[in-house]
Amino acid sequence: MSEKKDPKDTTVLVTGGAGFIGSHTVVALLEGGYQVIVVDDLSNASEKVIDRIDQIVGDEAARNLTFYKADVNDREALEAIFDANDIDRVIHFAGYKAVGESVQKPIEYYSNNIGNTLTLVDVMRNHGCKSIIFSSSATVYGDPDALPLTEESPKKFCTNPYGWTKWMIEQILSDLVTADPEWNVVLLRYFNPIGAHPSGLMGEDPKGIPNNLLPYVAQVAVGKRDCVHVFGDDYDTPDGTGVRDYIHVMDLASGHAAALAWMNGREGVEIFNLGTGKGTSVLEIIKAFSAACGRDLPYQIDPRRPGDVTANYADCSKAKNEMGWEAKFGIEEMCRDSWNWQSANPNGYEG
Ligand code: UFG
Repeated sequence: MSEKKDPKDTTVLVTGGAGFIGSHTVVALLEGGYQVIVVDDLSNASEKVIDRIDQIVGDEAARNLTFYKADVNDREALEAIFDANDIDRVIHFAGYKAVGESVQKPIEYYSNNIGNTLTLVDVMRNHGCKSIIFSSSATVYGDPDALPLTEESPKKFCTNPYGWTKWMIEQILSDLVTADPEWNVVLLRYFNPIGAHPSGLMGEDPKGIPNNLLPYVAQVAVGKRDCVHVFGDDYDTPDGTGVRDYIHVMDLASGHAAALAWMNGREGVEIFNLGTGKGTSVLEIIKAFSAACGRDLPYQIDPRRPGDVTANYADCSKAKNEMGWEAKFGIEEMCRDSWNWQSANPNGYEG
């Protein structure tokens, strides 16, 4: 059984805490009074994020944040971090996340994402820390038979190695609970995270050409790219374009804080969907972003992208009933905050 503690007495290690979802979650935790340790190798994040986090939370809360530049798969470094700190819980974000790249580099994806998780849980076990929240994804539902997706919906075949790493890590962590019921595991299945911190100080900063819709649209809005490529308009959806459950990264961050509070003093494994429950099409996103940035964004219809599903959106009633969490923000706020971030930082953190 994980020991029940107040946030101020709880030290949370956040792997990948300088990344997009990680950084917003770290802010939510510091604002909630937790002691936070970020471990990030900065392979896909900027160290400037740490300064931005400090700026957002203020000096007092910033004193509760410690940053280590380290690879989670570096066992020695991780052991040293656990030796030096009394870590109560872990939120594990660190991992490669580009779907297309994972098809080209399966060995790197399996080795990094699964390897670092195995190292992490082994080091946790060596230090008597058995409490972990894992960043999973709606990708584990594959091509759904029925919508909305509940946590009971079947896990299906994934279309790429990235998705399989999420699928397998869920299994690994569940097996850990079977072997040792003292483990306390929460699997959070995110739908499509977008948006940015309302201050405009933190947001998504993809390297190269964005794979995901929102960062691409945002770069068209600031004039870095010519037009949005809509991948298919012949899907069986109201306007023919793909439908997803977009969720504001601020809501996702508060979802992690809710999960931490919920798991306090519990054991076993639990799964929660984190979405809004509402599906939005690609064309609706372009329209909403156009409204946010004040001009009609150009787009063209291209062929479907291989591996894309027609539609998915979540049933989030379990998170509401169990953890008292639900998403607060709609598409309008998500596009407003994305635009605010992108227009203030056209070149991301390096700008
Ligand atoms: N799309 C476009 N043009 C683009 C990019 C995307 O039309 O330039 C469309 C896609 O076809 C899809 C929708 O926009 O219909 C959303 O695509 P994203 O790439 O933004 O997101 P996905 O739903 O494909 O992927 C997301 C996460 C993955 C996760 C997956 C399944 O990025 O990490 O959801 O849950 F695996």
